[in-house]
Amino acid sequence: MLPFSQYDAHGHLRHLITLEGMTSEQVRELLDRAQRYLRRPGEIPAHGRSLAGITVGNIFTEPSTRTRSSFELAAKRLGADVLNLEIQLSSRVKGETVLDTVYTLQAMAVDVFVIRDAEPGVCQYVAEHVAPHVSVLSAGEAHLSHPTQGLLDALTILQYKGGFRDLVVAVVGDVRHSRVARSAYQVFTALEVGELRIVAPDALMPDEGEMPEAKRFKTLESGIEHADVVMMLRIQKERMAQAAIPDAHDYFARWGLTKQKLKLARPEAIVMHPGPMNREIEIASEVADGPHSVIRQQVTNGVAVRMAVLETVIENRNRRWSPPR
Ligand code: NCD
Repeated sequence: MLPFSQYDAHGHLRHLITLEGMTSEQVRELLDRAQRYLRRPGEIPAHGRSLAGITVGNIFTEPSTRTRSSFELAAKRLGADVLNLEIQLSSRVKGETVLDTVYTLQAMAVDVFVIRDAEPGVCQYVAEHVAPHVSVLSAGEAHLSHPTQGLLDALTILQYKGGFRDLVVAVVGDVRHSRVARSAYQVFTALEVGELRIVAPDALMPDEGEMPEAKRFKTLESGIEHADVVMMLRIQKERMAQAAIPDAHDYFARWGLTKQKLKLARPEAIVMHPGPMNREIEIASEVADGPHSVIRQQVTNGVAVRMAVLETVIENRNRRWSPPR
């Protein structure tokens, strides 16, 4: 069997499981398409009809507010039908395997599966087994990958900073458990960000050897000094075997981004957070809601990016496959 590839035989994107190995051209093509839906930063994307007749199925076995809603709205705003599988009410709880669930929905003509799962490898496994005209998009895989989040983060930086090469970008907090940080690392290295920093206490740093192109900083103050972009991450309590951090109060004192600490970054710095935020743990409300924050624009961009990804995989599918009449 050929090794798994998220590209089809023509080299076009069929599934989106990871940003690893993507070239800057491949990333920019998706960002350009997303931007076509956004006239100005923060503006809700325009509607389209390119997914008319397509059905998108959301299968989320981990909680989600932003990612699931924005995949749903992206699909609907391009004219698709959307099925949200309520996993707690589905036969998964009776022991049906994920693949049987997918085959069942495929038999009802779902064309694109959007999958979030806590277990590594599920998205790829499903992608390896679906029919040739079907695509699988990751909406978050364990601590490993969250490709559409990486793309929306890149789009947000592009909008506010106009490029990547001259920037200092600091990714701060629970880097170790974060799929957001891993996809950010992959997309930022593809786009050749000037200086990429990971900033975390020892217990929340990824293993040595992971993210080799990032500089490591062990205090918030040193890590955000002169940064153009400060990306804060949520403390992921659900992924920690034992609480590796002291208490929330102590974490906020050392690692929480306050207005005062943000003064160390460049005066025009933007502050990002993928959400959901733990206010007054990793980020102070005065920063989350303050003038440097682009957190809500990230959410808007998430819809545009997911429209772009959905449209791309369907366009690529239509090039190699025509539905039976
Ligand atoms: C993140 C996720 O679930 O990976 N949220 C998101 O998708 N925007 C980040 C998190 O849970 O901390």
